[in-house]
Amino acid sequence: MSQHHLRSNDSAVTPVREPANWSPESWQQYPATQQPTYPDADELASALATLGSLPPLVTSWEILSLKKQLAEAQEGRRFLLQGGDCAESFDDCESGLISNRLKVLLQMSVVLVHGLRLPVVRVGRFAGQYAKPRSADEETRDGVSLPSYRGDLINGAPFDAASRRPDPNRMIKGHARSAMTMNFVRGLIDGGFADLHHPEYWNLGWVGHSPLAAEYQQMVESIGDAVRFMETLSGAAVHNINRVDFYTSHEALLLHYEQALSRQVPRQWGWFNLSTHFPWIGMRTAALDGAHMEYCRGIRNPIGLKVGPTVTPDQLLRVVEVLNPDNEPGRLTLIHRMGAGKIEDALAPLINAVNREGHRVLWCCDPMHGNTESTSVGVKTRRFENIRSELDSAFDIHAANGSRLGGVHLELTGEDVTECLGGARELTEADLGRAYRSTVDPRLNYEQSLEIAMLIVRKRGQVPVA
Ligand code: PEP
Ligand code: CO
Repeated sequence: MSQHHLRSNDSAVTPVREPANWSPESWQQYPATQQPTYPDADELASALATLGSLPPLVTSWEILSLKKQLAEAQEGRRFLLQGGDCAESFDDCESGLISNRLKVLLQMSVVLVHGLRLPVVRVGRFAGQYAKPRSADEETRDGVSLPSYRGDLINGAPFDAASRRPDPNRMIKGHARSAMTMNFVRGLIDGGFADLHHPEYWNLGWVGHSPLAAEYQQMVESIGDAVRFMETLSGAAVHNINRVDFYTSHEALLLHYEQALSRQVPRQWGWFNLSTHFPWIGMRTAALDGAHMEYCRGIRNPIGLKVGPTVTPDQLLRVVEVLNPDNEPGRLTLIHRMGAGKIEDALAPLINAVNREGHRVLWCCDPMHGNTESTSVGVKTRRFENIRSELDSAFDIHAANGSRLGGVHLELTGEDVTECLGGARELTEADLGRAYRSTVDPRLNYEQSLEIAMLIVRKRGQVPVA
């Protein structure tokens, strides 16, 4: 269908076409990397039928309101904060972990709102971040080869044949765990947990003894003053700042799962992925002619695209044209993840190409995935200094090239883990053994996360605002 549609709920009226020759399963005609091989086709079909009949996790109007907020971030009127675990596990669907992660994201957003004087778009990497790309399809130990662990949505981590067998029923369990996570987050937020009048609800144990505590407390107090001032001025409670919005995202990796949760809704054209607000395409599955690109081009959600240091300007432009042929504001977020040592050379040519073609995108920096390294004893870590340096460079390079960094994408946790080196507490290699809990990528702990938020504020104050 090539008919044009006008989106009614957007102030910038942009004609957006329904994608041609697309269906939720059309990705199956394209090379699909990073997918498990399910041993039993009937079992897969039956799990997908069940999944297809279960209720969605998010709604189309939430998705469209996020898209609008991302369009505003593109124009410099908001800042995107996207963060959470590298991978969730089914066992981590637990109240303390979920509320601590929410707390640290809320605290970071307070720092950003206060320092940047901009509303923040809050997006969690949670309620569905259960599938991971792997460098090899198989893992071999002591001469035994088994399928690689691909995340709880697909198989189990223990190295035995039963755990590693891809089990389609895990998708049903993953949907349920995502729903429980969403339900708890929504309940907390609706119940007043995110109320700006009560930032003390979000205190984690460290406040009081952290090197950053005084600075944070001061910001919280001054936000409290501002809220009270506005209430005095308007003579009414400031309802729209009592509550904050929270959106979810995950890597759209396991395409059967994404397909089963793709839905049409009344009074809207086209298809939405209702498993999350904001799916992203990972770096390993971003091939122009691949199945992930095919799937994502057809859904109406905002899409994130990870962009690594080997992507050429021409490749990027072709991908942008596939994912956002109508140059729709808010549709596409480019999440660059270059590494502190590579961003200087790699980023500017991409920015210039996108600018030259007039593509409207939101630029977001993931300073984590290009900075992963191993310690001398083989522990996966990231240095706070490199994370900080990549972020700093990102602000500078955008400003120097007539562009704007509009967001950050971080791997973090609300727990007191020791997975990344450095930060205000100067964690060393010897500290890594103390509380290293990630089974995948090393995360910023709550204190390092807050410090990053403070550094963003400081840095953005130094670059000319585009
Ligand atoms: C991730 O975000 O966890 C990830 C695997 O990132 P990337 O695709 O950028 O490597
Ligand atoms: Co990761």
